[in-house]
Amino acid sequence: MPKNSLSITDNRTGKTYELPVEQGAIKALDLRQIKASHDDFGLMTYDPGFTNTACCKSAITYIDGDKGILRYRGYPIEQLAEKSGFLEVAYLLVHGELPTTTRFAEWTFQITNHTFIHENIKHLLDAFRYDAHPMAVFVSTLAGLSTFYPEAHKIRDKEVRSRQVIRLIAKAATLAAFAHRKSVGMPYAYPDNDLSYAGNFLNMMFKTTETKYHPDPVLEKALDVLFILHADHEQNCSTNAMRGVGSSDVDPYSATAAAAAALYGPLHGGANESVLNMLREIGDVKRIPDYIKRVKAREFRLMGFGHRVYKNFDPRATIIKKVAYDVFEVTGKNPLIDIAVELERIALEDDFFISHKLYPNVDYYSGIIYEAMRFPVAMFPVMFAIGRMPGWMAQWEEMLEDPDHKIARPLQVYTGSEERKFVPIEKRK
Ligand code: ACO
Repeated sequence: MPKNSLSITDNRTGKTYELPVEQGAIKALDLRQIKASHDDFGLMTYDPGFTNTACCKSAITYIDGDKGILRYRGYPIEQLAEKSGFLEVAYLLVHGELPTTTRFAEWTFQITNHTFIHENIKHLLDAFRYDAHPMAVFVSTLAGLSTFYPEAHKIRDKEVRSRQVIRLIAKAATLAAFAHRKSVGMPYAYPDNDLSYAGNFLNMMFKTTETKYHPDPVLEKALDVLFILHADHEQNCSTNAMRGVGSSDVDPYSATAAAAAALYGPLHGGANESVLNMLREIGDVKRIPDYIKRVKAREFRLMGFGHRVYKNFDPRATIIKKVAYDVFEVTGKNPLIDIAVELERIALEDDFFISHKLYPNVDYYSGIIYEAMRFPVAMFPVMFAIGRMPGWMAQWEEMLEDPDHKIARPLQVYTGSEERKFVPIEKRK
């Protein structure tokens, strides 16, 4: 019977250690006992980008990158995208189970009745430059919300915590839409709580003179699916920020602002914009072979292709491609789609992309859809953040309830100078 342990021989000392293996992992702290000498700090691991380090145990999202599997709380993403809705998925992520009819009605009521924001937020918005990027505004106003809900710092009180979770999911869409209206100089459109979550977001984004905004049901559904696909993705950069900052026991508005700030980066929330730019640069299907040649010559990367975890296919990309065609039935075809489809076809038959396991990721088609729906490019990361909010909330609460939880405080491998004497400025060369 093989033992569930790992034997390590330290060739510096000749000593052997036996470390328990649990759920495919060893405890990093078990390595600390491995010392080259008595006053040695003990062995640690060096892992920039946390490419092989589990920072928590989580029961929220399961990904098998080789098989192209993504599940929220055990439910395959394909089934949730087809049969569920964003608010139901949000409940599932936060509470761990799908809601009953009564629970779902309560949850929907709570979220739709917390969509309004304090009028003072509008003054905060006025303080930004006329052309402020909506994502920067979104990040700042999220942090600003903590000043309106001072009780939010009671993060050990489950009831207080649940109220903030509802507020954050509800108000994210309002802050996002207001940030957009501000950036284009339009008057704010207030939430309409008769509408669905996605429908209300479309209302706040696009309502002009009509007394009541009626979202197109196909676009409303498409947006709802896009939010579902972005709702969680285990320990990605922004979720890691949520957990890392939240681990100091700060209020959730401050931690969420940090998570959203992480999402602002082009390597995380901004890839779909790069896809649009790339498709525009190609401009014509005839230019694709030449473009592929240049990618293979490593002049640049094919944007929207490849993923740190998915090495077979990104299941979200498959769903999104279908959504694109549903949207085009209403909006008319975004001409970039023909280039995207042909580029994908050629790339997927090419040895370079096959051998590097490069497939379209979720961002390959999402930008094309958003553009067809008239969302400005600057709003893409903001919309990603709206979708990701339930995931951040679920991960934050899971962390706080975790008995193993500690403040995030990684180590470093120090490479600086040894101790040296201070030199007064007049004596420095
Ligand atoms: N086009 C061409 N070659 C690529 C691409 C690409 N899009 N992605 C990776 N490669 C190649 C690399 O050149 C490298 O080749 P080599 O080993 O022969 O030198 C190999 O594939 C591995 O690349 P890494 O950068 O080590 O892979 P990693 O897993 O770290 O990167 C990432 C993943 C960042 C997503 C990468 O595939 C990429 O840059 N893609 C384009 C940007 C993009 O679409 N980002 C969105 C990600 S999804 C999201 O954040 C929601």
